[in-house]
Amino acid sequence: MSQIMEMLVRRGFIWQSFEIYGGMAGFIDYAPLGNGLRRKIENLWREFFVVNERSVEIDTPTVGIEEVFIASGHAEGFTDVAIECSECGRVFRADHYVKEKLNLEVDPTIEAVKAVIEEFDLRCECGGKFKEPEHFNLMFETKIGPGRGKKGYLRPETAQGIFIAFKRLSDYFRHKLPFGVAQIGRAYRNEISPRQGVIRLREFNQAELEFFCHPGEKKHPDFHKYADDVVTLVDKFDKEHRITLREAVERGIIAHELLAYFVGKTRRFLLAAGIKDDKLRFRQHKDDERAHYAVDCWDAEVLLSYGWIEVVGIADRSDYDLSRHTKYSKEDLSVFVPYDEPVKVKRKKVVANIAKLGPVFKEKAKKIAEELAKLESAGDEVKVVVDGEEITVTSEFYEVREVEEEIHGEKIVPHVIEPSFGLDRITYAVLEHAFDVDHVDGEERKVLRLKRYLAPVQVAVLPLLSKDRFVEEAERIAESLRESGVYTELDTAGSIGRRYRRYDEIGTPFCVTVDHQTFEDGTVTIRDRDTTSQIRIQKDRIVDVIKELLSS
Ligand code: GAP
Repeated sequence: MSQIMEMLVRRGFIWQSFEIYGGMAGFIDYAPLGNGLRRKIENLWREFFVVNERSVEIDTPTVGIEEVFIASGHAEGFTDVAIECSECGRVFRADHYVKEKLNLEVDPTIEAVKAVIEEFDLRCECGGKFKEPEHFNLMFETKIGPGRGKKGYLRPETAQGIFIAFKRLSDYFRHKLPFGVAQIGRAYRNEISPRQGVIRLREFNQAELEFFCHPGEKKHPDFHKYADDVVTLVDKFDKEHRITLREAVERGIIAHELLAYFVGKTRRFLLAAGIKDDKLRFRQHKDDERAHYAVDCWDAEVLLSYGWIEVVGIADRSDYDLSRHTKYSKEDLSVFVPYDEPVKVKRKKVVANIAKLGPVFKEKAKKIAEELAKLESAGDEVKVVVDGEEITVTSEFYEVREVEEEIHGEKIVPHVIEPSFGLDRITYAVLEHAFDVDHVDGEERKVLRLKRYLAPVQVAVLPLLSKDRFVEEAERIAESLRESGVYTELDTAGSIGRRYRRYDEIGTPFCVTVDHQTFEDGTVTIRDRDTTSQIRIQKDRIVDVIKELLSS
């Protein structure tokens, strides 16, 4: 176990799920401190992508009915290639196994994997041969209700709940594009062989924003806020650029301003969470790497002890999802976009001759005329469907005329730009980047340099001695901090030096100490985690001073 993982388990950030039964790869428990940190990162995300973005947040079921995932393409296309050993029966995700054993990138297709296995005589770790590679769908299947029930799946992304609710959401926004809808919650993927500890989970937390826009207007009014930010981009040809976002758009490295806007905002969010800028890059997916729904995708990748790890995917999903759900649900998921001024257009129109239609088609004549009016051209005859009956109408009953019409707008299927965040990977990355070992008073010290506003325990109040009057005074101070909303612990056990080390290790920014002088002049000390320096202040100012320090 790495030094940081050992600390995270020992101090109560992350535990192995089902530990007393031997554990299960791909599941973790958020222990008290890890849970506190992840919640704060989640709230920071909310500030960036809901409040500041003027978007809304919804919460939809984590179980979805089969129809949703047939339409979304996940039932068919959300697969990885698995290889099973014919000797020991172990199953591996093919592309990961090839990378690990041969240091080769292989396309995740059956043919490519087969070719590599044959060429390199790739074997299982036990020496056994692999069976034919197979597609494995990553969704957890379930049954809703008793008896035969209804087939359902645990959602593999939170996004689908938003697409399904699009009609209601569009009403909510009065059909005015663009608008953003966020969702934070659990997602599930039955990963084939999760061997990367906390990085690849079978149950994890996503924070996703679906930004619905006009297909011809992939821009954002706030782009100027990030346009001059210098970012590291690796394009789909593996070329690295250190460049401003404005230039990246101008030179066509990023396809449009809206994608660049979310790259910029994602970077600012990750920096605010404590990710180091020099260990952050944005990598564009190669053409054969993109998910089935994406036309373009940039991943935010963070350098960790595991290598470069994707923590966010920023995808242009075009109209893929809304069009598919329109097709499968038969609901119209388009939006009427009014023009600033009505536009006059000339168009051909098939106009019925009612006087002739009436005597022949009787009560159906009016409906036939309506159907004909939808057409722009017609030959010697046309077929129209009225009340489920196909009727052939010959040209004596209509004529094709050019008409001028005023058009007030157009129906479009919005496109979706989606920044999708993995909160678990971000939480772990924040911990790894914050973890530091330095020397204090000639001794090695482990310290978690978390952003002050993200620390799960913000203040520790420490009585120098465990005598009653020290403890009682410390309790009073701790209570006043808690009452003002500061997450505070009181710790009376062990030497003061050991207690400082404990709180340094879990990232507590400030320790308040009640010492002998407290009883002489009413002051306490505040010790800073990062510098270990101390200031002395009047104890009745503690809440104000701590609050100010925490906000910086
Ligand atoms: N809705 C788009 C989507 O789900 P994704 O790239 O598959 O896109 C988005 O996932 C993010 O979710 C990833 O960048 C990653 O941070 C996180 N994620 C995906 N699979 C994960 C897993 N098995 N364990 C932990 N996090 C995962």
